[in-house]
Amino acid sequence: MRWYNHFLQNRDSSGLPWDDSYRLSDSERRLVTHSIQQFQLGEWARGRGFVRRAKTHPAFATDSWFVPALELFIAEEQHHSGLLGSFLDREHIPRLTNDWLDAIFRRLRKLAGLEACATVLVTAEVLAVPFYQALRDATGSALLRSICIRILCDEAAHLNYQALTLGLIRGRVSERSQVQRIRCHSILFHCTALLLWQQHRRVFRAAGWDFRRYWNESCRAFAFLQFRIRQIALAGGDVSSIEDLRLD
Ligand SMILES: [Fe+2]
Ligand SMILES: [Fe+2]
Repeated sequence: MRWYNHFLQNRDSSGLPWDDSYRLSDSERRLVTHSIQQFQLGEWARGRGFVRRAKTHPAFATDSWFVPALELFIAEEQHHSGLLGSFLDREHIPRLTNDWLDAIFRRLRKLAGLEACATVLVTAEVLAVPFYQALRDATGSALLRSICIRILCDEAAHLNYQALTLGLIRGRVSERSQVQRIRCHSILFHCTALLLWQQHRRVFRAAGWDFRRYWNESCRAFAFLQFRIRQIALAGGDVSSIEDLRLD
């Protein structure tokens, strides 16, 4: 219920400087175009499979707030895509309709159940944080910076939300299965982190980040996420103690 209320209250916040007269320079366009296009596509998801899996998962079957909160969460991700899309339109940069990396992530999300879906999604979200930080610092556009800050605020909450979801799911399986899942998640994270750097390193470099900084900060954020998921899993569905386990 708390997450439902959070997403509901967060939905109406606006105040982005759409009347900013700044337009991207040629060099800036070359730098950020592909990255924004890829993230605009990646943020868009109808989430039908996610909701369908949540409706039947035993961890949430008795929680009448879970699916409504999930639907608002998906709407918030679509809003991110909408913000980036409007920015692209304003700069007369075409939106992507498909992309090989996006296709891989969509295929991975559809592979298995709710846990796989949430795991793939949160992996991308952990890495989206350093990306939007770098994009914010790489551009002279006040509008683009504001969009990045808005998305960063939302994503910080999303990490809490996903840690709770995954913690409640993992808390239902054996200790051995939990350790295996942590290992699989770690492999997925490190592969994705390398891929993200390969795709968007020019944006990071323009913001003054080298690979070492990117890697260290991403790994630290991932370790913290894993720690929170683990704590929630160990709490075994005790909501009163879970309430104390937020990331922010
Ligand atoms: Fe997002
Ligand atoms: Fe997110």
